Amino acid sequence: MARRRKLYEGKAKVLYEGPEPGTLIQYFKDDATAFNNQKKGVITGKGVLNNRISEFLMTRLSEIGVPTHFMRRLNMREQLVREVEIIPIEIVVRNVAAGSLAERFGLEEGTILPRSIIEYYYKSDELGSPMVTEEHITAFGWAGTQDLDDMVALALRINDFLIGLFLGVGLRLVDFKLEFGRLYNEHDEIQVVVADEISPDNCRLWDIRTNEKMDKDRFRRDLGGVEEAYQEVARRLGVLPEAGPMDLKGPQAMQ
Ligand SMILES: Nc1ncnc2c1ncn2[C@@H]1O[C@H](COP(=O)(O)OP(=O)(O)OP(=O)(O)O)[C@@H](O)[C@H]1O
Ligand SMILES: [Mg+2]
Repeated sequence: MARRRKLYEGKAKVLYEGPEPGTLIQYFKDDATAFNNQKKGVITGKGVLNNRISEFLMTRLSEIGVPTHFMRRLNMREQLVREVEIIPIEIVVRNVAAGSLAERFGLEEGTILPRSIIEYYYKSDELGSPMVTEEHITAFGWAGTQDLDDMVALALRINDFLIGLFLGVGLRLVDFKLEFGRLYNEHDEIQVVVADEISPDNCRLWDIRTNEKMDKDRFRRDLGGVEEAYQEVARRLGVLPEAGPMDLKGPQAMQ
């Protein structure tokens, strides 16, 4: 395949110029980071699995009318997406207390929240992605009130839908992070769409019966069985590559 221009290398993915203007190729790496980049490692096969899991979830979302950047999967580690203007706000939706929420408010992990809670974080590695309020977001111009309304409405719909989808395969959706971007149509109208990825890297998923963690917390907390957890999520969703773990290394990143 022809060499493509690398536009950005992040912690989990590489972005290449796509075949047509307005498109990008997302290459999924096996690299894993946690605690704002302080912990680094490799989860073998993660890139292959997240590529498939995110493809699956984004496709299901577009089927219910949730707009996403996803166009199609190209190969084991790459997918074609629409290039968007990333809104620098991470939306976290929580259904069950875990992680930083449990810590900050002294809640026991696993406490069911009285209702789904949405949090905003400003996307900045240098600042360690601080939590922010609507006031900060609109005052600093990171997103407008219309963008925010759209993002929250989409996030809640996605939450309701994904809770049911994961429940159907025996997983509890504890919390997850979304990124959104702006797409401009030919009339210069703005559409807010889901971007980045939805995978066990940015969802907390617990087995419904055993409460076993099936996501990146296994890496963050050195629980072991990290590769197996990602494989199990893919298997339950019916997207584990046919050849199984044998097939998970996939092609290496092009230089
Ligand atoms: N459709 C898209 N158009 C433009 N940029 C995108 C799109 N989807 C995702 N991105 C951006 O591509 C990058 C994906 O790489 P990766 O997830 O590895 O980043 P990261 O190291 O986690 O950094 P970040 O903190 O920016 O997410 C992110 O910065 C993400 O915001
Ligand atoms: Mg990222």
